Amino acid sequence: MSMSFKPAQWPRRLRSQEWFGGTGRDQIYHRGWMKNQGFPHDMFDGRPVIGILNTWSELTPCNAHLRDLAERVKNGIYEAGGFPVEVPVFSAAESSFRPTAMMFRNLAALAVEEAMRGQPMDGAVLLVGCDKTTPSLLMGAASTDMPSIVVTGGPMLNGYFRGERVGSGTHLWKFSEAVKAGEMTAEDFLEAEASMSRSPGSCNTMGTASSMASMSEALGMALSGNATIPAVDSRRRVMAQLSGRRIVQMVKDDLKPSDVMTKNAFENAIRTNGAIGGSTNAVIHLLAIAGRVGIDLSLDDWDRCGRDVATIVNLMPSGKYLMEEFFYAGGLPVVLKRLGEAGLLHKDALTVSGETMWDQVKDVVNHNEDVILPVEKALTQQGGIAVLKGNLAPKGAVIKPSAASPHLLQHRGRAVVFEDIDDYKARINDDALDVDETCILVLKNCGPKGYPGMAEVGNMGLPPKILKKGITDMVRISDARMSGTAYGTVILHTSPEAATGGPLAVVRNGDMIEIDVPGRHIRLDISDEELAARLAQWSEPADRPTSGYEWLHQTHVQGADTGADLDFLRGCRGAPVGRDSH
Ligand code: FES
Repeated sequence: MSMSFKPAQWPRRLRSQEWFGGTGRDQIYHRGWMKNQGFPHDMFDGRPVIGILNTWSELTPCNAHLRDLAERVKNGIYEAGGFPVEVPVFSAAESSFRPTAMMFRNLAALAVEEAMRGQPMDGAVLLVGCDKTTPSLLMGAASTDMPSIVVTGGPMLNGYFRGERVGSGTHLWKFSEAVKAGEMTAEDFLEAEASMSRSPGSCNTMGTASSMASMSEALGMALSGNATIPAVDSRRRVMAQLSGRRIVQMVKDDLKPSDVMTKNAFENAIRTNGAIGGSTNAVIHLLAIAGRVGIDLSLDDWDRCGRDVATIVNLMPSGKYLMEEFFYAGGLPVVLKRLGEAGLLHKDALTVSGETMWDQVKDVVNHNEDVILPVEKALTQQGGIAVLKGNLAPKGAVIKPSAASPHLLQHRGRAVVFEDIDDYKARINDDALDVDETCILVLKNCGPKGYPGMAEVGNMGLPPKILKKGITDMVRISDARMSGTAYGTVILHTSPEAATGGPLAVVRNGDMIEIDVPGRHIRLDISDEELAARLAQWSEPADRPTSGYEWLHQTHVQGADTGADLDFLRGCRGAPVGRDSH
């Protein structure tokens, strides 16, 4: 057990050596305290220190198995000659965080960025799963631009209820509407609850977690095949171990997020989201991640790139299968290959593997054409996210056409307005509500600033009296988000949001609204003069918080059209080692 100090063995001096490399008092201080965990001296000899940034939490059930995966990542890092250190980071569960996990995405990203910059590490494995955990860690890593690789926890196994495939979230909405319509008993709903979540992992539908896992892979930030391996499949552990090996080489090569997440990589991701029928939440997260790398990405890019992409992945909520079947069919690499064959992929985009995207996917095989459909049998030929603009949404609003009812994509209807979510909850179940199925439900004050945090309430449930007629969809417009597992003709992210005085704030009951998704238009049918007069009368709510994180969020959050990041966090600040405090 020689304790003599050896100079750095690595080809170049790494940033962790600013803490650990040397014989001075400060270095002995940093090393010595680490040694209380039993790390041998040669762990500090200049080899890469890799942070395994773990969003494990028992209150983030989708990530509750990540301690196990972290051990596999560690094995890989050791095998490749690195020094792994597991670091817990802020974890926000979609299923339980109030007022909404989205309010904490930016807080988590801030915490991750500083955890990377302020501590002795040379690269990071981003261990994520539940919806917000993936973008928050990608945003933080992008702002440091330190070598990073994503490992997701993988989706849950299929749910089944009385022989029927049951998807996370998707069937929660379906069953809850069925109970309201009197088609399902409350007891059956309770029994179905246990059948939805059969194993560790994230939502098994093409919801936001699966979409963001797919976005990570399409961006090139995860190893090929990562997105779809079920959480409990042994190959998920293999993926973790291989990623651990890979990050060590990435540090050696200084392969950074900015080398991988280029404009072309974002275009690949946008087209992929159309092909998989991915979540509208991917829009907001990719805009925010791009903002951290300094890539000029806009809603117009989403519309331009997604417009001609067919949705070929037959998964709920748009289709019928779940992530398990997607994996068995060949997973995301098959989709990327299809995009490449259709001329819709930047084939030369670099990935964290060191290979191009095309090199990784060109030889994969589709094992089930009912899950990954031929283009002629696509769920929809225009699967991308559509961006609508007009006097009701001057900065844009989004809709996922593959989850909408085709007959409602061009529609004119009378507005039934809810001033906020409490107003909606108080009145939606009242049979006296003046509404029919041709009306348009309008929900205000649920945007990034308004809710606050932009909750997933945009797919507001229909009035029971409409459901009882057997009608399951109406046009809905809000400045909120929608769960990626949800469906319907739902127009979201209306910008500017009502809470900042956007036109949505002045819609009144009885106004007529026109939407034209193919024409990409949304219009409040009042004159320009009337709209200007109403906006002039609008005033900001007086009950804003004056302290705490909620104040910070409301004061600095940007609009959904640019990703709802905090204004002072956009951009890449790198990872200077800073000064020592000792
Ligand atoms: Fe965590 Fe869906 S609630 S992934």
